[in-house]
Amino acid sequence: MNLAVMGLQWGDEGKGKAIDYLARDFDVVVRYGGGHNAGHTIYHEGKKVVLHLLPSGIFSSGTISVIGNGVVVNPIELVKEINGAQAHGASLGEENLELSLLAPLILPEHECLDIVFENSRYIKIGTTRRGIGPAYEDLVGRRAVFVRDLLDKDTFYRKVKPLNEYYNKLMMANGGGAVAVESYIDEYTKAGAFLKKFAKNTIYSLNRYYREGRSILFEGAQGVLLDINFGTYPFVTSSNPTIGGLCTGTGLPPGAVGKLIGISKAYTTRVGEGPFPSELSGSEGEFLRVKGSEYGATTGRPRRVGWLDLVALKYAIMINGVDEIFFTKMDVLDEFTEIKVVTAYEYAGKKTDEFDPSIEFLDQVKPVWTSFPGWKTAISEIKEYKDLPANARHYIEFIENFISAPLRYISSGVLREQTIKR
Ligand code: IMP
Repeated sequence: MNLAVMGLQWGDEGKGKAIDYLARDFDVVVRYGGGHNAGHTIYHEGKKVVLHLLPSGIFSSGTISVIGNGVVVNPIELVKEINGAQAHGASLGEENLELSLLAPLILPEHECLDIVFENSRYIKIGTTRRGIGPAYEDLVGRRAVFVRDLLDKDTFYRKVKPLNEYYNKLMMANGGGAVAVESYIDEYTKAGAFLKKFAKNTIYSLNRYYREGRSILFEGAQGVLLDINFGTYPFVTSSNPTIGGLCTGTGLPPGAVGKLIGISKAYTTRVGEGPFPSELSGSEGEFLRVKGSEYGATTGRPRRVGWLDLVALKYAIMINGVDEIFFTKMDVLDEFTEIKVVTAYEYAGKKTDEFDPSIEFLDQVKPVWTSFPGWKTAISEIKEYKDLPANARHYIEFIENFISAPLRYISSGVLREQTIKR
């Protein structure tokens, strides 16, 4: 059965580990959105590998990895990542890696614009500065340049030259400097020559795999609360990590998604700016950050940390129609005496269980907490659900009753084996 795996929080839920655990059984793994702002950490033969653009199935032999048309691609980074993955033992050729001809490109100007916009904006978003927002803006603005355009130097130059003039005006108006096309055209077309063998019309190949009954895993990037439409706007990314983005980013119909597994940490983290009602500050927050190694996989920034917000989680589940939850980093809570979750908000003097993603709401709400006694036991070596401490099982069962979705997988460490399937 086909499967979609999607982050239900603000990204960094442990999708890399979940996908790597689940991907062994899939014929095809496809990324449908985001770009190299994503950082999916997997462990291959005991070594840590962080993937940004490549689908997390690349180490499973026989799996076809597809970068769909919804992904914004920085070709230089992609070439680097392919070479890095090969050095780690992945064998990538045209038969098992496909790159959509229709994926929009990230150009050097997009990265500069991301920084210039961020420095001149009246609200700082705290972007990854990878050019993601400006590249998606160009797609919507109907001036994007695609992987297809990169495969021929003359076409590429003809398309980017007028764009470059437009970008330079924008950059200079916002306090930045100009970029010359000539400074990157050779490097980009060299990357294009390298990527040519992987470039395909993935809309057709994916639909063919679907028709042939091959199993497909949809690998989400970021998370529901970072969605441009449903997330905590404006502190969001510029794509749809949610279910709609899965269709527009692959060309597969909604019926192609058999089951949807949502990923949630046992607590919450967020990178960058924006509201975070259950945020923990002080020594408790610092303890959680250190214990959970909560530092960005892409930027190295310390992540903000807090308790699990069940109102937000229920909202994420509602929008996507999640069937099961892969619950990650449960072991990070091992040493806490008390563990809390948000079960409602207080807003304008009233209690509500509805999540409104606007800052006007989230900046005003007070969390209503439910507390649990901690389990104070190391759980990483436990293999069976029944062997988990009673307080840990109580925590899990309370959550699944509250959100009306089963916590099917409990992850208690970075390794594939450290996963309890219920
Ligand atoms: P952008 O995607 O670089 O434009 O950044 C917009 C917001 O999304 C920032 O708050 C980033 O920290 C956040 N963000 C983007 N990608 C990820 C991710 O993969 N994990 C966590 N946060 C992310």
